[in-house]
Amino acid sequence: MSNENKSVWNSNITFILAMIGSAVGLGNIWRFPNVLYSNGGGSFMIPYIVSLFLLGISFVLVEYAVGYKFKTSLSKILYSVYNKLEPVAWFVLTIVFLITTYYICVVGWDLIYVVLSFTKAWGSNPDLFFSQSVLQATDSIDGITTIVPAVLASIVAIWFVTWAILRTNLNDGIGKVSKVLLPLLCIIVVIIVIFSLTLPGASIGYTQIFTPDWNALLNPNVWLAAFGQIVFSLSLGMAIALTYASYLPEGSKLTDNAIVVAFSNSGFEVFNSIGIFSILGFMAMTSGIPFNELVTEGTGLAFVVFPQVFNVMGPSANIIGPLFFLCIFFAGITSIIALLEGVCYSISEKFNFSRKKSATIVCIVGVCVSSIFATGAGSLILGVFDAFLNNFALLFAVLLECIIFGWIYDFDKLIATLNENSKIKVGKTWKTVIKFILPICILFLWIQGILSSLADEDPVSITIKAILLIVLIALPIIFTKLPAKNEDFYKEVQH
Ligand code: PHE
Repeated sequence: MSNENKSVWNSNITFILAMIGSAVGLGNIWRFPNVLYSNGGGSFMIPYIVSLFLLGISFVLVEYAVGYKFKTSLSKILYSVYNKLEPVAWFVLTIVFLITTYYICVVGWDLIYVVLSFTKAWGSNPDLFFSQSVLQATDSIDGITTIVPAVLASIVAIWFVTWAILRTNLNDGIGKVSKVLLPLLCIIVVIIVIFSLTLPGASIGYTQIFTPDWNALLNPNVWLAAFGQIVFSLSLGMAIALTYASYLPEGSKLTDNAIVVAFSNSGFEVFNSIGIFSILGFMAMTSGIPFNELVTEGTGLAFVVFPQVFNVMGPSANIIGPLFFLCIFFAGITSIIALLEGVCYSISEKFNFSRKKSATIVCIVGVCVSSIFATGAGSLILGVFDAFLNNFALLFAVLLECIIFGWIYDFDKLIATLNENSKIKVGKTWKTVIKFILPICILFLWIQGILSSLADEDPVSITIKAILLIVLIALPIIFTKLPAKNEDFYKEVQH
C-alpha cells in the first residue's frame, strides 16, 4: 500500500461508527453484566466511570494522536520512533492476530446458535447440548484429532466474510459494514431491552444491578475489575484506534471523537445489561433458580443460560432468541474486522502488498489456526488462549505502549496534535496519567494475571502457554528480520 493511494475515511461519521463497532463486541454483551454484578452492582459505576475517563479515554487519546500524527501502520510508527522498537509492533500484532483466531471461533458458535434458535433446537438440556452436540467437547487434549464439522464450517464462513470485507477498500468495506451493522445492532438491543422489561420478574434482575454496595468501593479489586473491563471493552492497546485514526483527514477533532466513541461503547454495555438482567430476573422467578446462580459470563451466559431462558419464555422466544444471537454476531463481526485491519496494514506497508493480498494471506493463515478450535479439544484450548493472551500478553503490550509513547517519544508533541483542532483540550493531567498512573494500574492488573496463570498446574495448559510464548517471541523476530519490500519503510516519518 503505497502512500499515494493511502486510505482516508470519507466522513467523520464513518470513522466514529467503525470505532464504536470495533469497541462494541462480545465483551459488552456477556462480560460487562457479570463484572457489574460481582463488583458491587450500582456502586461499581463509580470506579467504572473514573476508569473510563482517567484511563480508558486517556489511552484511546494516545492511540488517536499517534495514528493521526504518523498516518502510517504500527510497525512503521515504532520503527520511526526508535528503530529497535519494530519487534514490539509485531509482538502486539501477533497477540491481536491470535486473539482474533479464537474470537472468530466464538462468533462461529454464535452463528450456529442463530440457526438453532429459530426452532430452539437445543432441547431441554442446553448445557449438555452445548458441550456434547455443538462443541463435541472432550475433557482431554486427545480430542484435537477429531474435527467438529459444524464448528469448522461456521469458522470458515466467518473468515470468508471477514476476508471479503477486509479486501474491499476502506470506505466500501469496513465503512459500509459499520454503517449498516451498527444501527441494526442498536435497534435489536433496544427491542430486546424493551421486551425484557415487560417480562414478569424483570425487576428482580435490574434492581440487583442497580442496588449499590458502597463497601465494595473500598475493595481495590473492584477498582482493578473496573479498569480491566475498560481495557477489554475499549479494545485498548490492540492498535485498532491507532490504525483507524491514521485514516483520518486533516482537521479532525480527535479528543471530541474519542469521547463520543467511549461514551457510546459504555452506554451500550450499561443499557444492554439492563436487558440481560431483566431476562435473568424473569428466569429466576419462573424457574426458582437463585439469581446469583444464573449470572455467569462468557459462553455459559450466551449458549447455556439464555437458551434455558428461551425454553421457558413461550412463543416470543422464537423472535427474541434469534435477535439475541444475531446481536452478538453483528457486534462480533465489526470487532473482528477492526482487530485485523491493523495487522493487514502493517504487513501491506512493510512488504508492499496490496490490501487484497495481505487480507488474503492473513485470512488463510487465520483459517488454519482457527481450525484448532474446531476440534473436540477446541473449547479447552480456547480457554487457555483466552486466559493467556488477554490477562497476560495484551496487558504487557499496553504497558509497553505506555512506556514507548509516554517516555521514549516526545509526549508534548502528542498534546499539540490533540489540541490542534479539538474543542476539548488536554494538558498536564493527561501526561501524568499516561506516564505514571496508567502504567502502575496496568502493572497491578498484569501481576494479578501472572499470579492466576502460575496457579495453573495442568500440564496441557502449561504446554499451550509455552507454545504461545514461543510464537510471541519468534514471530516478531522473524517479521523484523525480514527485509522490507517497500523502501519507504525504513525512511523516517515526519514526527
Ligand atoms: N472490545 C471488543 C469486545 O468487547 C473487542 C475485543 C476483542 C476485546 C478481543 C478484547 C479482545 O469484545
